[in-house]
Amino acid sequence: MGVSGGIAAYKAAEIVSRLTRLGADVHVIMTAAATRLVGPMTFQGVSGNPVATDLFAEPRRWNIEHIALADRAQLVLVAPATANVMGKLAAGIADDFLTTTILATEAPVILAPAMHDRMWRNPIVQANAERLRRAGFAIIEPEYGRLASGALGQGRLPDPESVVEVVVQAMFRPKDLAGVPVLVTAGPTRERIDPVRYLSNFSSGKMGYSLAAAAAERGARVTLVSGPVDLPSPPGVEVVRVDSAVEMAEEVWRRAAAAQVVVMAAAVADYRAAEAATAKLKRGSGDLVIRLVPNPDIIGELGRTKGKRLLVGFAAETDDLVINARAKLAAKNLDLVCANWVDRAGQGFGTDTNALTLIDRSGGVLEVPLQDKRAVAHAVWDRVRGLLGAGETEVLVPPAPDPCLPSGDGQC
Ligand SMILES: Cc1cc2nc3c(=O)[nH]c(=O)nc-3n(C[C@H](O)[C@H](O)[C@H](O)COP(=O)(O)O)c2cc1C
Repeated sequence: MGVSGGIAAYKAAEIVSRLTRLGADVHVIMTAAATRLVGPMTFQGVSGNPVATDLFAEPRRWNIEHIALADRAQLVLVAPATANVMGKLAAGIADDFLTTTILATEAPVILAPAMHDRMWRNPIVQANAERLRRAGFAIIEPEYGRLASGALGQGRLPDPESVVEVVVQAMFRPKDLAGVPVLVTAGPTRERIDPVRYLSNFSSGKMGYSLAAAAAERGARVTLVSGPVDLPSPPGVEVVRVDSAVEMAEEVWRRAAAAQVVVMAAAVADYRAAEAATAKLKRGSGDLVIRLVPNPDIIGELGRTKGKRLLVGFAAETDDLVINARAKLAAKNLDLVCANWVDRAGQGFGTDTNALTLIDRSGGVLEVPLQDKRAVAHAVWDRVRGLLGAGETEVLVPPAPDPCLPSGDGQC
């Protein structure tokens, strides 16, 4: 666990204490600034382990201490994470024990930023947070509330209990979709109107990519059919990139037969130009009329030919959320519909957070509160897992591979 120099460093002692009581072997690394706010002895006391502060300290045993900790860690939590530490990690700077260890570890890293709300909202800090997310760091969003300065704003470290819960979830996430073939779609589609212009929508693909990444974390074999987005491929996921709705339909229909679960999170354009111009349309003095024709109903067709597959759709709404979502569930023969408001703060297109109402065939309704899209994705998979387990579809899990025991020559 890393503790950097934020005023919330005192809460870190409670986090370490709770993790230790749960049986974790916690090794604390403090930045120099953190040691000015809380004494290392406090963390040594609550963790029962020596606290690392100095990269160049004499090692207790001959190993390079930060590499040894980086190797041993099953998970790294930084709480609080200062704007400074995030900036250094985002830039690949390793100038102290904490940043060096984090850059050297292969363990998952969770950052819990805490700072004044103006610092958190600073575009450079936000860009660093986004860069870190893309590099695979999980970020626990700071909470809204009373800050150390006395002002109200978003910047508080969540209470220790919630931070510990996130750590426990990350460490013990079950591989409950092991081997399940899953197909996810994400992003917008682009419908050309001439060689340089297209019709599209504001979908960023973040929800679909989070769903694909979360399914892969749980052991699923994931194929992601993605419209044009500016996102890195999630680790362990096969990504098929497409441009238009017609291309997406072809790829999805071709691959759906091999999938046990299909989640259609893409914002597919309903219409395309009847004929895309072959030369750039020129500006004229009158109106320009483009005739649009309907695109293939990708999810409708999947619903008609569903077989034993479990089919999950999204309903992006600006009014009558539950009524519209239920109508879509029935019309498209879905097993689960994930309904979200696209006109509310922190939800829908382009945001890093989302909130969903999950409605299943039997009428069950589950509210997923506003949180990071990856956490929302896991809530969707929890529900899907429940539906698979309820015997509504057959789970096709291949036999477990033979255990691979290292024999010293790198062979099994
Ligand atoms: C009393 C005090 C409280 C601070 N609180 C925070 C904070 O909550 N968040 C933050 O990002 N920086 C905070 N800072 C500024 C950091 O300590 C400073 O940027 C430092 O360089 C961080 O170093 P580190 O990231 O290596 O720990 C605070 C500074 C002081 C003196």
